Amino acid sequence: MHLVFPKEFIWGSATASYQVEGAVSEDGRKPSIWDHFCSIPGKITHGDTGDIAADQYHRYYEDVEIMKELGLQSYRFSIAWPRIIPDGVGQVNGLAIRYYRNLMTTLKDAGIRVVATLYHWDLPQALEEKGGWRNRDTVQAFETYAIACFTHFGDLVDSWITINEPWCIAYLGHETGEHAPGHTDQNEVPKVIHHVNLAHGKAVSAYRKIINNDAIGISWNLFVHRPATRRTKDLEAAKMALVYESRVFTDPVLHGTYPEELQDNPKWKFPVESGDMEEISQKIDFNETVITSSEKSYKGYVSVPQWQNTTSQKWPITPVALLRVLRWITAESQNTPLYITENGCATDDAIQEDGRVHDYQRIDYLRRHLEVCKDAIGEGIPLKGYFVWSFIDNFEWAWGYNKRFGIVYCNYENQTRTIKDSGYFIRDIISGYCEY
Ligand code: BGC
Repeated sequence: MHLVFPKEFIWGSATASYQVEGAVSEDGRKPSIWDHFCSIPGKITHGDTGDIAADQYHRYYEDVEIMKELGLQSYRFSIAWPRIIPDGVGQVNGLAIRYYRNLMTTLKDAGIRVVATLYHWDLPQALEEKGGWRNRDTVQAFETYAIACFTHFGDLVDSWITINEPWCIAYLGHETGEHAPGHTDQNEVPKVIHHVNLAHGKAVSAYRKIINNDAIGISWNLFVHRPATRRTKDLEAAKMALVYESRVFTDPVLHGTYPEELQDNPKWKFPVESGDMEEISQKIDFNETVITSSEKSYKGYVSVPQWQNTTSQKWPITPVALLRVLRWITAESQNTPLYITENGCATDDAIQEDGRVHDYQRIDYLRRHLEVCKDAIGEGIPLKGYFVWSFIDNFEWAWGYNKRFGIVYCNYENQTRTIKDSGYFIRDIISGYCEY
């Protein structure tokens, strides 16, 4: 299989602030919902926290050197709201502005494109105490924060992503309670969904006023389910799963409405106010679609046993699901350019006697997903770039440090970095050596 990609295809890697930065009490940063969540016994494997993580706050320079060595053309990271506006509202923190400008300048000097996510789940705890994403005031606070970012970093950022994976914020944060803030109340979900969608729209409006460079989008993790059988009941179940898990996020942005299938459902009332849908549904410049390749069933539907191999988190490996999602979102978004903002897997990595990390399982996983990307481009799907998750091992949310996703190994004892074999694989693919 020759993994040849168009010359202009963008190759990158991705991380998120709380997962890699550490330095949680430095330079004026205040707690986020994740600092708080980690302090609750039993929430995170081994009681891990993001206090130090991969220490990128102090080691970004070294990390950018590694990116250069791997030939990565783009770095997607997130800006920490609790650094920029530590109380959620009020004073902008100059030290945080300085930190991110340093990081961005270092990337630019290395010839690496800067892709900044405004929100990758670290809501300032001060806002959570006033109702978090259940409270419409958080939307206003987010808009102010977004304006601060556009104003202070607009000259250095190549592409902006408003929100990372609203699905996780709504469902993992407010229904299953697996993620911060750890709520388990289904009634909160439609409110959170609407406020997060609206926050996206407000940020896009602000961007159009301040920068307007055709480079803003959103990262969705979408699920397009495979019905267990061709029976009408299963087909209907898969259709409803699409509504709950994907269309409640994509319909408002792409079509300006919530799915009509939910209109008569009293449990699914979105707190829409006049003008909201127009704000949410304005044009975006690209969709950043994050693929988990999971075919999990959901919400009252029977989960079908999977026959596929799984990653070390027991997530099924289903590259074909990536193609299904790419086809679906291409049709829905009428050919808006697409980027895969995260694709990767956890494997049980360790440094071997020869000093290297032979993560062959990850190479196989990436190769199989890249084949699908190549097929997708061949079909005319407007896929413009790919970001491997993750650049470096990091704090994997509720799993703590128990799961490693990086193409670079992080030794958490002394913070040394070792490029894994998958990192060299990615380097080969980017450089055009593609006979894998
Ligand atoms: C998230 C990352 C996370 C990864 C693996 C993505 O959904 O954006 O923060 O580490 O999945 O779970």
